[in-house]
Amino acid sequence: MTIKRFAIVGAGLFGETHAKAYTTYPDAELSLVCDINEKRAGEIAKQYGGTRSCSDWREVAADDSVDAVSVATPDFAHTEIAVGLAAAGKHLLVEKPLATTVEECEQIIAAAKNAGVKLMVDFHNRWSPAFHEAHAAIERGDLGSPRYISYRLSNTTFVPLKMLAWADRSSVLWFLGSHAIDMTCWLVGEYPKRVYSVSRREVLKDLGADTPDLYHSTLEFPGGAVASIENVWLLPQSAPHIVDHKCEIIGTKAAAYIDTTSNRLLQVDDPSGVHYVELFGGPVVHGRQLGFALESIRHFADCILHDKEPIVPGEAGLEVTRIAKAIERSAETAQPVDIER
Ligand SMILES: NC(=O)c1ccc[n+]([C@@H]2O[C@H](COP(=O)([O-])OP(=O)(O)OC[C@H]3O[C@@H](n4cnc5c(N)ncnc54)[C@H](O)[C@@H]3O)[C@@H](O)[C@H]2O)c1
Repeated sequence: MTIKRFAIVGAGLFGETHAKAYTTYPDAELSLVCDINEKRAGEIAKQYGGTRSCSDWREVAADDSVDAVSVATPDFAHTEIAVGLAAAGKHLLVEKPLATTVEECEQIIAAAKNAGVKLMVDFHNRWSPAFHEAHAAIERGDLGSPRYISYRLSNTTFVPLKMLAWADRSSVLWFLGSHAIDMTCWLVGEYPKRVYSVSRREVLKDLGADTPDLYHSTLEFPGGAVASIENVWLLPQSAPHIVDHKCEIIGTKAAAYIDTTSNRLLQVDDPSGVHYVELFGGPVVHGRQLGFALESIRHFADCILHDKEPIVPGEAGLEVTRIAKAIERSAETAQPVDIER
């Protein structure tokens, strides 16, 4: 087996997850870490294998030893880097959302096609065990035809106010809604033809993050299914979990209910309150990093090592962005928006 060398551009919170995944995957090597914050790039490089670091993605593009790159820069800063890296012949794993305009998604897809490199979007919830099982049940026909999906993916105000330095250049729709849209369409098995959405920008802007508080969106699918997607960035920081993630799938034969927030496999009560400890996304067990958030990245590594096609191609990212743009337009105009493709 020939070792493949991976690099990371954007070594923040989630870029570090990519570093963990590559350094623990057989025959993959983390060879270069890039961040405009040179200190952060150096720290992550040192922590994960003592590899090299740099502060300009063009150095990654120019490095012939790098086979593939994770792009984990902020939502609005994927396109120039992804297009440049593809043109340099690097396979790409781009964090969700692929980009925040349809045109930019198309540019990234075209750049990857022209260069003949693989392109995957990191919609890692497709590796979440509960969602995977629900999807498998739909595929087997156990639920009949999905008729209604209620999907909630929300955060406490910690995320827009403290965690993300760039919340006012993105939104709960791009940060969380992109996941919810991808998963809903994956479960229904097609893309919507019309969306209706309501949004509010009232509370967070007064707290210092000029970004929408919430989106409440309805999706109508060509086959008759209807979905309701709720993304709210207003949950209190006293909530037991930073993420509220629930999904109900009502089919013609049966229904499935997913609640990854309050599974309460491990509940910790301490002086600051009650906490539900996240056990599926990425716990470290006896020194080994587990979790579905790493499995999607390991899948990408597998595609590069064994020349397979990624489960979530660039086109899936394009469709999510097309739908999110229609949701934004519907919320702005207070009108339903038909989606043409
Ligand atoms: N798959 C998931 O569920 C998931 C979870 C969290 C974040 N994300 C996505 O990952 C991306 C990064 O999010 P994050 O939470 O890690 O943000 P972050 O702010 O913690 O990290 C972003 C990093 O990118 C660096 N950066 C910015 N512009 C750069 C450039 N031009 N070149 C090199 N580095 C640059 C910043 O210095 C920062 O260190 C976002 O698109 C986000 O939506 C995905």
